[in-house]
Amino acid sequence: MSLKDSINLEKLPKHIAVIMDGNGRWAKQQGKNRIFGHKNGVNAVREVSEACAELGVKYLTLYAFSSENWNRPKLEVSALMELLVRTIGSETKTLMKNNIRLKTIGSIDTLPSRAQEQLNSVKEETKNNTRLTLTLALSYGGRAEIVDACKKIASQVKKGEISEQDITASTINRHLYDPEIPDPELMIRTSGEYRISNFLLWQSAYTEFYFTEEFWPDFNKESMYQAILAFQSRERRFGKTSEQIKSV
Ligand code: FPP
Repeated sequence: MSLKDSINLEKLPKHIAVIMDGNGRWAKQQGKNRIFGHKNGVNAVREVSEACAELGVKYLTLYAFSSENWNRPKLEVSALMELLVRTIGSETKTLMKNNIRLKTIGSIDTLPSRAQEQLNSVKEETKNNTRLTLTLALSYGGRAEIVDACKKIASQVKKGEISEQDITASTINRHLYDPEIPDPELMIRTSGEYRISNFLLWQSAYTEFYFTEEFWPDFNKESMYQAILAFQSRERRFGKTSEQIKSV
């Protein structure tokens, strides 16, 4: 029996975010270079996207390249960009066939122009797909996202479009990179690391975290089912007491 059968489809997280970690260590274990690890990481991307689409999870956000990842060796950065362009190109048909919409968050304008063009064209082509929204965080940093939101709000205040007193948490929400995407209910990090690493800082205020020792290339559908089951076994209280939650 697959773990899938134990999942309560009525209580699925609407949005799952993933910090894909451990490609390099996975490759090293096999005596291969880091890029080999990233290439195998693409299989795990496919697995989790399929698992989410099949179950009915509406949003999946993957931390594919952080703003800090630019500091990696040049060869690794260019290999990652190349892999991104190639994967997006080869997977477009599958996205269309499975009714999956592709989105991005991050400083996309800092990516190589070929990657930008490729992403723009696939985002456009898939924009009416409704089954799952797959968002790639690319050149993304959570603090930068909040700073950018503050700048946009400050400029509106300066122009007199809104007043300082009207600024609330929803004002910030509305100025994030993609305000349409709801906050993640579940965040997964692989490879035995227990950090948020500047990912979705604002959005993860009430997110449930799930950590696994598995390296990213080994993460598969069953791993995703396990994470969802762990999520479903938890009680989400949002600051209330257990009794208050049970009485609603
Ligand atoms: C983390 O492992 C992984 C990344 C920084 C890149 C993730 C990229 C992919 C899975 C491939 C491309 C993705 C798409 C969406 C097409 P690491 O290198 O930090 O591993 P380590 O901690 O073991 O060194």
